[in-house]
Amino acid sequence: PDERTLVLIKPDAVRRGLVGEIVSRFERKGLRIDAMQTRTLDGDFADQHYAEHVDKPFYPPLKDFMTSGPLVALVLSGDQVIDVVRGMIGATDGRKAAAGTIRGDLALSNRENLVHASDSPDSAKREIALWFPELG
Ligand code: CMP
Repeated sequence: PDERTLVLIKPDAVRRGLVGEIVSRFERKGLRIDAMQTRTLDGDFADQHYAEHVDKPFYPPLKDFMTSGPLVALVLSGDQVIDVVRGMIGATDGRKAAAGTIRGDLALSNRENLVHASDSPDSAKREIALWFPELG
């Protein structure tokens, strides 16, 4: 049975005109797009999405960044999609992410790293319920 994961194409990617490039990589991989929507976050929603990071030192600038402009939220599905997408996006820090990954090819920052993806079945469930409650 296919899994689902939540992906965010972050405001830096929208500003840089990379939405099509990033969505195209997921489509070419054979993943399905179950939902896709542009949103601009307010601070409360950012806090809910990043509940596990709100007390970390990197969070205040991350919150400013994530609320700085529109982003694109997607729900993707496919065989082992959570791990597959994590592999496709690469390590958090774009300077260290492997070539061939989205961050490795296109990002040069630890914060402005173009994409977010759920990191486990529990976080996928929580994040999909937060962003797309109608998919429940
Ligand atoms: P993401 O996968 O969305 O999960 C948490 C985000 O916090 C991460 O991508 C980065 O955008 C950001 N982040 C994580 N660690 C750091 C860090 N050390 N410095 C700055 N930003 C970070």
